[in-house]
Amino acid sequence: MKKLIVANWKANPETTEKAKALARATERALSSAYRNIEIVVAPPFPFLERVRPILSRARLGAQDMFWTGGAYTGAVSPGQLVALGVSSVIIGHSERRMYMGETDATVRKKLHAALARGFCAVLCVGERERHGGVATAVVGDQLASALTGLKKGQLTRLAIAYEPVWAISTTPGGAGADTPDSAFRVRLYIEKVLASLFGARSAKPARVIYGGSVAPDNTAAYMREGKMDGVLVGGASLDAKAFSRIVAEVARSATEIA
Ligand code: PGA
Repeated sequence: MKKLIVANWKANPETTEKAKALARATERALSSAYRNIEIVVAPPFPFLERVRPILSRARLGAQDMFWTGGAYTGAVSPGQLVALGVSSVIIGHSERRMYMGETDATVRKKLHAALARGFCAVLCVGERERHGGVATAVVGDQLASALTGLKKGQLTRLAIAYEPVWAISTTPGGAGADTPDSAFRVRLYIEKVLASLFGARSAKPARVIYGGSVAPDNTAAYMREGKMDGVLVGGASLDAKAFSRIVAEVARSATEIA
């Protein structure tokens, strides 16, 4: 199974020119052949078409997707993303859950629609509070709600991104990156939930990645001690040099672990 790195640009940058410049810098930074890993770059919707021809070493991702087309003002449909060359979609990011009213019910509909349409889906889960030992309860509920009813064959295109909300670099009052050890414990729990829903064998192809203040100097620890299948990178993906170092760390640990 290939390691997965997802660059989530969020609502950055401001202009098409800046987005193209970032895409060019990212593409250059990925120039050494990383055949053992899969890289997804998820720019904002308005830039998808313009950055697509620039990124040949990464797949194009979207940061969200509505579950259908038609009379839904402001929505972006699965078919529109297919037409733009998007192959991966982030679903249920905590910022969408917090600021855009995304609920477990809408996350579920979007995830099922994305997988039915043939996208690779990155489902984000994670608790808001660092203390109180709620991680597994929250993650368990989010997973059960989103995943129940998926077909086993769809799990090869599913990645679960464990992103404790308090660990995201821009979370107000946030605590910074999770420890690889505690991320590992949640990873084991996610595997358990997947196995209970689909059976251990069918669940195996689903990847589990970590997100939350991923940086060049902590990536190796998440891959080795956290035993992650990859990382979801926010802030650091806006800096092509930092992003390329993260990619190099994942590639190195992938070779070592393999
Ligand atoms: P961060 O963001 O890497 O800036 O913490 C991660 C995310 O929210 O996806």
